[in-house]
Amino acid sequence: MKVVCLYGSPRLEGSSATIANHFLECAGSHGATVQTFALHRLDYCGCTSCSACKKQLDRCIINDGLAPVLDSLYEAEVVVMATPIYFDGVNSKIIAFMERACSYFKADWVESQEDCRLTWGKKLVFIITQGQPENVGRDIFGRFEEVLEQLGFKERHLIRACGVNEPEDIQRREDVLELTEEIARKTFM
Ligand SMILES: Cc1cc2nc3c(=O)[nH]c(=O)nc-3n(C[C@H](O)[C@H](O)[C@H](O)COP(=O)(O)O)c2cc1C
Repeated sequence: MKVVCLYGSPRLEGSSATIANHFLECAGSHGATVQTFALHRLDYCGCTSCSACKKQLDRCIINDGLAPVLDSLYEAEVVVMATPIYFDGVNSKIIAFMERACSYFKADWVESQEDCRLTWGKKLVFIITQGQPENVGRDIFGRFEEVLEQLGFKERHLIRACGVNEPEDIQRREDVLELTEEIARKTFM
């Protein structure tokens, strides 16, 4: 199984990357191949609404740092997206990626799976870390669920770690690490 992991946070030793890496270790032990992208190191923009992916090409026309990331998802069976919460939302690198993921859609309005260039049935592990407690920002993942389904992510798992700011906070969160392992077991069984 091929796993593609997108680190949204600029902190590659931060809390979201620490959880993602724990999942990737589990993936490796199940024999998965892993490709990672540190989005913060890539120079790219959000969607420019040019419609080239609908009218001219079968992909995004913008040839920037995100192009290899967008290409990698064609082969991925499992995608991991790890993001810190910034100002009550996913961070800017993940949001810009989500905007550009619209280039996988053949039409402006997605009515069926046929309208998506990615294959149906992929698995998604979405990792959110935030400083605020659990009752804050509960809806953030839900904002993306419809589009994630349209992108072919049939199975979607959320790992949310709240009240964490530093990597060592995660090391103390056995509940989060255990949930990560359980999701890895379900993903690769
Ligand atoms: C610019 C910025 C904005 C933030 N906004 C929020 C917020 O709105 N809600 C929240 O709970 N935490 C917020 N945080 C805290 C981070 O989400 C939290 O520290 C997270 O665990 C960092 O993840 P990382 O170590 O993977 O970067 C913010 C942090 C930064 C730097």
